[in-house]
Amino acid sequence: MSDVIQIKNIKRDFQLGQETVKVLKGIDLNIRKGDYVALMGPSGSGKSTLMNLLGCLDTPTSGSYILSGKDVSQLSDDELAEIRNKEIGFVFQTFNLLPRTTALDNVALPMIYAGKSKKDRDARATEVLKNVGLGDRMDHKPNQLSGGQRQRVAVGRALVNKPSIILADEPTGNLDSKTSVEIMNLFNEIHAAGNTVILVTHEEEIAEHAHRVIRLRDGMIESDQRNR
Ligand SMILES: Nc1ncnc2c1ncn2[C@@H]1O[C@H](COP(=O)(O)OP(=O)(O)OP(=O)(O)O)[C@@H](O)[C@H]1O
Ligand SMILES: [Mg+2]
Repeated sequence: MSDVIQIKNIKRDFQLGQETVKVLKGIDLNIRKGDYVALMGPSGSGKSTLMNLLGCLDTPTSGSYILSGKDVSQLSDDELAEIRNKEIGFVFQTFNLLPRTTALDNVALPMIYAGKSKKDRDARATEVLKNVGLGDRMDHKPNQLSGGQRQRVAVGRALVNKPSIILADEPTGNLDSKTSVEIMNLFNEIHAAGNTVILVTHEEEIAEHAHRVIRLRDGMIESDQRNR
């Protein structure tokens, strides 16, 4: 049983005034440790909603979610935050870095919540920034970095606590094609190092990096194909 993610009949409704919007309509999904998955589908099909559930940023209306052997579908916000910090690295389309904070401190941030000392935090953040190719940009703030460099900082932040899964929601959505390739090479390396990687993309060329492509349509899995 090396499935790091086991999802059974997950539904997610949103309440909008009197109306119930059914967004995820019964998703079954198993993802094994070390897999490299691209999640695709039209705008509004539920990709981000599903990623937020996978990343423990949200809980389902019904259905079960077993993450690394633990049922996380009905946990409190505090319990979810703890799991998130330990198990999940999240990368967003818009980077979501703290603007007045150096690359080093942005990357070190999740280790504060993990209770690491300043010395350990700085040492680990330095190591991670070197790994993502930013050893010479550690003291730069986000507005002193290019888009691709900002996303590298965000990837470094996602990796810093050595999570079991890296989730990325359109990580190249705000980058030009050359920079997108660089970021995808970084995800390829992260996957090759043994991490489980799940990313959302609209672009077939980006999805080709993954080993498995899952397509959502209207809140359901339309297809699930393995290329490697
Ligand atoms: N908090 C919410 N309240 C009400 N409806 C929501 C909420 N979040 C998402 N939705 C609805 O759920 C549907 C799916 O949204 P989601 O963001 O998951 O789509 P997506 O596949 O990520 O689309 P995109 O490719 O545009 O990012 C949309 O119709 C959206 O309006
Ligand atoms: Mg989305």
